[in-house]
Amino acid sequence: MVKLFSDFKLGEVELKNRIVMSPMCMYLCEKEDGIATQEHIIHYGARAAGQVKMIIVKATAVTPRGRISLRDLGLWSDEQVPAMQQLVEAITGQGCVAAIQLNHAGRKAKVEEPGLAPSALAFNEEYPAPQEMTEQQIQGAVQEFRAAAQRAAKAGFQVIEIHGAHGYLVNQFLSPLTNQRSDGYGGSRVKRQRFLWEVLEAVRGVWSAPIILRISAEEYAAQGNHPQDYLELVRELKEWGVALLDCSSGAVVPAKIEPYPGYQVSYAEYFRQQTGIATGAVGLITSPLHAQEVVANERADLVLLGRELLRNPNWPIYAAKELQTEIMVPDQYRRGWL
Ligand SMILES: Cc1cc2nc3c(=O)[nH]c(=O)nc-3n(C[C@H](O)[C@H](O)[C@H](O)COP(=O)(O)O)c2cc1C
Repeated sequence: MVKLFSDFKLGEVELKNRIVMSPMCMYLCEKEDGIATQEHIIHYGARAAGQVKMIIVKATAVTPRGRISLRDLGLWSDEQVPAMQQLVEAITGQGCVAAIQLNHAGRKAKVEEPGLAPSALAFNEEYPAPQEMTEQQIQGAVQEFRAAAQRAAKAGFQVIEIHGAHGYLVNQFLSPLTNQRSDGYGGSRVKRQRFLWEVLEAVRGVWSAPIILRISAEEYAAQGNHPQDYLELVRELKEWGVALLDCSSGAVVPAKIEPYPGYQVSYAEYFRQQTGIATGAVGLITSPLHAQEVVANERADLVLLGRELLRNPNWPIYAAKELQTEIMVPDQYRRGWL
């Protein structure tokens, strides 16, 4: 039986348990410079000390115009690298793998200029209509992902996650709901995938460590993508150096979702079974037994926790107690767990 507290090899990177911190925007930058702060170090350092064994740092913008908010982290400039290096050290110093999610928000950017998107369709009334990207702008965005990946390597990150979910730019190209282009980047499913392949190729050119791809496996709209629409793409991901598929859903178009515990686990299970790719399950997994169930029944290889880790940075230590597993507790906290 695969246990929650067992090693996992993500490419060449070793994780000492299967518990991962899901990327979560914290809007903690003090200025609009995208530079990591002391608060980021405290926030992520505490979770690393709490024995999560991989942290995926929040959606980090590859360009100022691709920020979800003005207080997002960024990797669009070399000036952002030294603070990121310190953040990486705070994470890895606790024996935790440091991963970073690279993102371009596309039409969901909340910045001064209108967002860039495959088609000039606004997400809803709260967002201005975006500008339809020219081929040159598309190539520019690909190069921005590449340059950000290079900076992530300089900062010492061990894993990159490409944000292909939640209706941000990569997802906007993938979805027929948001991509109505008729050139080489839209129309057929294959053409809608071209931007993602170009991003992966560009990142791969400067990054030799593992890549994770996060997708919205289900868009909760009849004409949108459903898990089976991703099957061919996922089958090819390994060849493109993607070590793990992180299976999320939604946020592509406004749609009502009624989440329940493990509501996205079936997507991780589906792609794992159908293609053999390693997967991460996320979404309302809050109890140790539930997390154990997901890995033990081989529905997913890793379990990502979001909100539960906001409530309880030490969740993995509590989980180990509940699952009667001995784990390392940092010396300075040991007496609290006797
Ligand atoms: C405050 C907050 C910020 C989030 N920011 C991101 C993000 O930057 N990137 C991302 O892919 N998902 C983001 N998410 C989604 C989480 O990563 C996760 O997929 C979702 O919360 C479901 O998991 P949970 O039920 O364990 O919280 C965010 C969620 C929350 C609550």
